[in-house]
Amino acid sequence: MAMWRPKERIRYDVAGGHWPTAAEALQARLFQPLQIGPVTLSGRTWVPAMVPWRADDEGFVTPAVIDWYRRFAEGRPAAIVVEATGIRDVPSGPLLRIGHDRFIPGLRELVSAVREASAGETKLFIQIIDFLSVRRRPEPHKYFERFLRITEDHRRQLQLPHAPEEAVRQALLALNEPARLAVLSPREREALEKGYRERVTDLELPHVEELPRTLPALFAGAARRAADAGFDGVELHYAHAYTMSSFLSRTNDRSDGYGGSLEGRIRLPLEVYQAVRAAVPADCAVGCRLLADECIDGGSSVDDAVFFAKALARAGMDFLSLSRGGKFDDALPPKIGEAVYPYTGPSGYECMPSYYSDAKGPFGRNQGAARTIRQALRAAGMMTPTVVAGGVHNFEQAEALLTEEVADVVGIARQALADPDFFIKIKRGCGAEVRLCKYTNYCEALDGRHKEVTCELWDREGLDEPGLPRSSDGKRRLLAPPWRR
Ligand SMILES: Cc1cc2nc3c(=O)[nH]c(=O)nc-3n(C[C@H](O)[C@H](O)[C@H](O)COP(=O)(O)O)c2cc1C
Ligand code: SF4
Repeated sequence: MAMWRPKERIRYDVAGGHWPTAAEALQARLFQPLQIGPVTLSGRTWVPAMVPWRADDEGFVTPAVIDWYRRFAEGRPAAIVVEATGIRDVPSGPLLRIGHDRFIPGLRELVSAVREASAGETKLFIQIIDFLSVRRRPEPHKYFERFLRITEDHRRQLQLPHAPEEAVRQALLALNEPARLAVLSPREREALEKGYRERVTDLELPHVEELPRTLPALFAGAARRAADAGFDGVELHYAHAYTMSSFLSRTNDRSDGYGGSLEGRIRLPLEVYQAVRAAVPADCAVGCRLLADECIDGGSSVDDAVFFAKALARAGMDFLSLSRGGKFDDALPPKIGEAVYPYTGPSGYECMPSYYSDAKGPFGRNQGAARTIRQALRAAGMMTPTVVAGGVHNFEQAEALLTEEVADVVGIARQALADPDFFIKIKRGCGAEVRLCKYTNYCEALDGRHKEVTCELWDREGLDEPGLPRSSDGKRRLLAPPWRR
């Protein structure tokens, strides 16, 4: 899968830097407790949501899902956020789901496995998501023969005012490519070149028009199930390319009171939050992940995010996790037969930067925006904890984020995948043994192809061990090797 890279192609290497002794770690801010609404975290470490593609086609928790989270819990981060989990009761491929009570028993087992493996230390949240329909990029001839809806506009441009549909299709196919493309509207051209994609602004689609009436109950039902399954909290997915983030986007010009102004764009996210809060018991934390910056032309900037963060905190959210970019708007066209993927364009790079970068580098691209948002919250008298992620791979970086008041909690995604024992190694004074992520995005490319996510630093190790769980092609181990202390 092609991924956009900054043209400067400056290469950045990771470094362990100074690792603390066990005694120093005990004093470090990183390992001081923090209250997240009703939940007490043992420290400031947080593994943000990462989809590993381990669920089955019905969306159920499998033994491989449990093994994956158990492996993270063995490293004792203060919190893990379980991957984006679908809130609807509709087939979604191997995406984890929580849209019906039949999913609760599997999720309960997952919660128990994490509690057991971390001796109760790691708190467990689940990210709940809604997304709109995205179709695969079509074969061009099939698009013109079948998928394109023939309109009066096409007939007018082709000067075939009364021609039957089939004749219009044949006339289009007979044109040379530039002429054929010129007949298409921007949305039709996008459907041809990237695959058809619904938007929250498609008010002519009844199910899209109704989202403000359907989503609060769907999110609330999912959150209630999460609490029933024993999760410590839920993270509403208000980030990246998905429905709720699209409502927040400056590109949302819905005319029904749920778009346009900042107040209109935050209205549904607030209504969803209220419904969720009313559905969960008092001991369940409720927060969200949102974008500190959409990083697309015409998208929401950090100023919009400040407004949203204040409104969400004022409404009572227990935490705000800040991400960046990851939009469909600037994603690269997929291959024919594949679906567009929101982490392939410049905004995708902002979300998961790799080691080839520009002068800003891959580590800490979201820090400026995160600090601005946190300062604005504090200036408004709100103490809501914030989480920031992006390129953190050593102790000094993590500690600096806290001392410099960029955020209250440090999100560590790919480094935790490269070495799930990152946290416990540092705490025990064994930081020098950390396997450092190289930010190659091999894992991310697997995610984009919906293949079981693993890390290239360990997935070929000890493949001959008997009984070792492997990827479906048998070539990779599914879990990081154990740390032999
Ligand atoms: C394989 C993979 C899957 C991811 N899945 C999700 C997801 O389900 N939800 C989400 O909000 N972010 C997801 N992310 C983004 C991460 O949570 C994180 O924001 C990003 O990787 C940047 O942090 P890092 O530099 O510490 O990796 C994913 C990242 C990776 C590498
Ligand atoms: S594959 Fe491993 S080293 Fe490469 S970015 Fe992912 S976690 Fe880091």
